[in-house]
Amino acid sequence: MIRSPLNDSEWEAYFNLRFELLRAPWNQPKGSEQTIDEKVHKHFAYFNLKNEIIGVGRLDKIDEYTSQIRFMATLKTQQRQGIGSALINKIELSAKQDGSNQIFLHARENALDFYLKLGYKTDSMSYILFDRIQHYLMIKSI
Ligand SMILES: CC(C)(COP(=O)(O)OP(=O)(O)OC[C@H]1O[C@@H](n2cnc3c(N)ncnc32)[C@H](O)[C@@H]1OP(=O)(O)O)[C@@H](O)C(=O)NCCC(=O)NCCS
Repeated sequence: MIRSPLNDSEWEAYFNLRFELLRAPWNQPKGSEQTIDEKVHKHFAYFNLKNEIIGVGRLDKIDEYTSQIRFMATLKTQQRQGIGSALINKIELSAKQDGSNQIFLHARENALDFYLKLGYKTDSMSYILFDRIQHYLMIKSI
Protein backbone atom coordinates (compact mmCIF):
# COMPACT_ATOMS: atom_id res chain seq x y z
CA MET A 1 0.00 0.00 0.00
CA ILE A 2 1.22 3.50 -0.81
CA ARG A 3 0.10 6.40 1.36
CA SER A 4 1.47 9.24 3.46
CA PRO A 5 2.86 8.39 6.89
CA LEU A 6 0.23 9.21 9.51
CA ASN A 7 1.64 8.98 13.02
CA ASP A 8 4.94 9.74 14.76
CA SER A 9 6.42 6.27 14.35
CA GLU A 10 5.53 6.16 10.64
CA TRP A 11 7.09 9.58 10.10
CA GLU A 12 10.20 8.42 11.91
CA ALA A 13 10.45 5.31 9.72
CA TYR A 14 9.82 7.42 6.62
CA PHE A 15 12.59 9.93 7.31
CA ASN A 16 14.88 7.19 8.56
CA LEU A 17 14.70 5.33 5.26
CA ARG A 18 15.45 8.59 3.44
CA PHE A 19 18.41 9.18 5.75
CA GLU A 20 19.84 5.66 5.43
CA LEU A 21 19.67 5.63 1.63
CA LEU A 22 20.37 9.23 0.70
CA ARG A 23 22.49 10.72 3.51
CA ALA A 24 24.22 8.17 5.78
CA PRO A 25 26.48 6.67 3.06
CA TRP A 26 28.00 10.15 2.61
CA ASN A 27 28.44 10.70 6.35
CA GLN A 28 25.83 13.41 6.47
CA PRO A 29 24.30 14.27 9.86
CA LYS A 30 20.88 13.16 11.05
CA GLY A 31 18.39 15.85 10.12
CA SER A 32 20.06 16.60 6.78
CA GLU A 33 17.51 14.29 5.14
CA GLN A 34 14.74 16.81 5.87
CA THR A 35 13.97 20.27 4.53
CA ILE A 36 12.37 23.02 6.59
CA ASP A 37 9.15 22.89 4.56
CA GLU A 38 8.29 19.17 4.69
CA LYS A 39 4.73 19.93 5.80
CA VAL A 40 3.98 21.80 2.57
CA HIS A 41 4.72 18.80 0.35
CA LYS A 42 3.11 15.45 -0.44
CA HIS A 43 4.66 12.29 0.93
CA PHE A 44 4.45 8.75 -0.39
CA ALA A 45 5.47 5.72 1.62
CA TYR A 46 5.31 2.13 0.38
CA PHE A 47 4.15 -0.17 3.17
CA ASN A 48 4.81 -3.90 2.94
CA LEU A 49 2.45 -6.55 4.36
CA LYS A 50 4.05 -6.16 7.80
CA ASN A 51 3.23 -2.45 7.65
CA GLU A 52 6.91 -1.53 7.37
CA ILE A 53 7.97 1.35 5.13
CA ILE A 54 10.27 0.02 2.41
CA GLY A 55 10.08 2.82 -0.16
CA VAL A 56 9.64 6.60 -0.06
CA GLY A 57 9.21 9.62 -2.31
CA ARG A 58 8.11 13.27 -2.10
CA LEU A 59 6.11 15.42 -4.51
CA ASP A 60 6.54 19.20 -4.56
CA LYS A 61 4.18 21.53 -6.41
CA ILE A 62 6.36 24.09 -8.16
CA ASP A 63 3.82 26.12 -10.14
CA GLU A 64 0.35 25.68 -11.64
CA TYR A 65 1.45 23.09 -14.22
CA THR A 66 4.72 21.78 -12.82
CA SER A 67 5.67 19.38 -10.03
CA GLN A 68 8.98 18.00 -8.82
CA ILE A 69 9.82 14.57 -7.42
CA ARG A 70 12.39 14.44 -4.62
CA PHE A 71 13.91 12.02 -2.11
CA MET A 72 13.10 8.74 -3.88
CA ALA A 73 14.51 5.69 -2.13
CA THR A 74 13.82 1.97 -1.78
CA LEU A 75 15.30 -0.13 1.03
CA LYS A 76 18.40 -1.79 -0.37
CA THR A 77 17.21 -5.37 0.18
CA GLN A 78 13.93 -4.60 -1.60
CA GLN A 79 15.27 -2.89 -4.72
CA ARG A 80 14.53 -4.15 -8.27
CA GLN A 81 11.11 -5.45 -7.25
CA GLY A 82 9.00 -2.65 -8.69
CA ILE A 83 8.60 -0.60 -5.52
CA GLY A 84 10.20 2.55 -6.89
CA SER A 85 8.11 2.29 -10.08
CA ALA A 86 4.91 1.85 -8.07
CA LEU A 87 5.79 4.96 -6.07
CA ILE A 88 6.47 6.99 -9.21
CA ASN A 89 3.16 5.87 -10.76
CA LYS A 90 1.25 6.96 -7.68
CA ILE A 91 3.16 10.23 -7.46
CA GLU A 92 2.48 11.02 -11.14
CA LEU A 93 -1.23 10.36 -10.64
CA SER A 94 -1.26 12.72 -7.69
CA ALA A 95 0.62 15.38 -9.67
CA LYS A 96 -1.97 15.13 -12.46
CA GLN A 97 -4.80 15.43 -9.97
CA ASP A 98 -3.11 18.59 -8.69
CA GLY A 99 -3.20 20.07 -12.20
CA SER A 100 0.40 19.47 -13.27
CA ASN A 101 1.20 18.39 -16.81
CA GLN A 102 4.96 18.22 -16.32
CA ILE A 103 7.25 16.69 -13.73
CA PHE A 104 10.94 17.34 -13.34
CA LEU A 105 13.52 15.89 -10.99
CA HIS A 106 17.26 15.91 -10.38
CA ALA A 107 18.41 12.31 -10.73
CA ARG A 108 21.53 10.90 -9.20
CA GLU A 109 23.72 9.26 -11.81
CA ASN A 110 23.00 5.80 -10.34
CA ALA A 111 19.24 6.33 -10.78
CA LEU A 112 19.28 7.48 -14.42
CA ASP A 113 18.24 4.10 -15.86
CA PHE A 114 15.39 3.88 -13.36
CA TYR A 115 13.89 7.19 -14.49
CA LEU A 116 14.61 6.56 -18.19
CA LYS A 117 12.61 3.34 -17.97
CA LEU A 118 9.73 5.33 -16.48
CA GLY A 119 9.70 7.75 -19.42
CA TYR A 120 11.77 10.63 -18.06
CA LYS A 121 14.08 12.35 -20.55
CA THR A 122 17.49 13.68 -19.60
CA ASP A 123 17.62 17.44 -20.13
CA SER A 124 21.03 18.45 -18.82
CA MET A 125 23.62 17.98 -16.10
CA SER A 126 22.61 19.78 -12.93
CA TYR A 127 24.31 20.04 -9.56
CA ILE A 128 26.90 17.94 -7.74
CA LEU A 129 25.90 16.91 -4.20
CA PHE A 130 28.45 16.36 -1.40
CA ASP A 131 31.25 17.11 -3.94
CA ARG A 132 30.63 13.70 -5.47
CA ILE A 133 27.17 12.87 -6.73
CA GLN A 134 26.47 14.25 -10.18
CA HIS A 135 22.78 14.96 -10.79
CA TYR A 136 20.91 15.22 -14.08
CA LEU A 137 17.79 17.27 -14.73
CA MET A 138 15.10 14.94 -16.10
CA ILE A 139 11.65 15.89 -17.36
CA LYS A 140 8.44 14.04 -18.24
CA SER A 141 5.11 15.25 -19.63
CA ILE A 142 2.26 13.59 -17.81
C1 LIG B 1 16.51 4.43 -7.67
C2 LIG B 1 15.65 3.54 -6.78
C3 LIG B 1 14.69 4.42 -5.97
C4 LIG B 1 14.86 2.56 -7.67
O1 LIG B 1 13.98 1.84 -6.82
P1 LIG B 1 13.55 0.32 -7.12
O2 LIG B 1 12.46 -0.02 -6.14
O3 LIG B 1 14.74 -0.55 -7.11
O4 LIG B 1 12.99 0.46 -8.60
P2 LIG B 1 12.23 -0.61 -9.51
O5 LIG B 1 12.37 -1.99 -8.93
O6 LIG B 1 10.85 -0.12 -9.72
O7 LIG B 1 13.06 -0.52 -10.89
C5 LIG B 1 12.42 -0.28 -12.13
C6 LIG B 1 13.44 -0.33 -13.23
O8 LIG B 1 14.40 0.70 -13.09
C7 LIG B 1 15.68 0.22 -13.54
N1 LIG B 1 16.62 0.18 -12.42
C8 LIG B 1 16.32 0.29 -11.10
N2 LIG B 1 17.46 0.24 -10.37
C9 LIG B 1 18.47 0.09 -11.24
C10 LIG B 1 19.89 -0.04 -11.11
N3 LIG B 1 20.50 0.00 -9.91
N4 LIG B 1 20.62 -0.18 -12.23
C11 LIG B 1 20.04 -0.23 -13.44
N5 LIG B 1 18.70 -0.12 -13.65
C12 LIG B 1 17.94 0.05 -12.54
C13 LIG B 1 15.46 -1.18 -14.08
O9 LIG B 1 15.18 -1.09 -15.45
C14 LIG B 1 14.25 -1.61 -13.28
O10 LIG B 1 13.50 -2.60 -13.92
P3 LIG B 1 13.99 -4.15 -13.84
O11 LIG B 1 14.35 -4.43 -12.41
O12 LIG B 1 12.77 -4.89 -14.31
O13 LIG B 1 15.15 -4.25 -14.76
C15 LIG B 1 16.55 2.68 -5.84
O14 LIG B 1 17.52 2.02 -6.61
C16 LIG B 1 17.24 3.46 -4.72
O15 LIG B 1 16.67 3.70 -3.66
N6 LIG B 1 18.52 3.85 -4.94
C17 LIG B 1 19.31 4.50 -3.91
C18 LIG B 1 18.80 5.90 -3.60
C19 LIG B 1 18.78 6.77 -4.84
O16 LIG B 1 19.76 6.89 -5.54
N7 LIG B 1 17.62 7.38 -5.08
C20 LIG B 1 17.38 8.20 -6.25
C21 LIG B 1 17.78 9.60 -5.97
S1 LIG B 1 17.59 10.61 -7.42
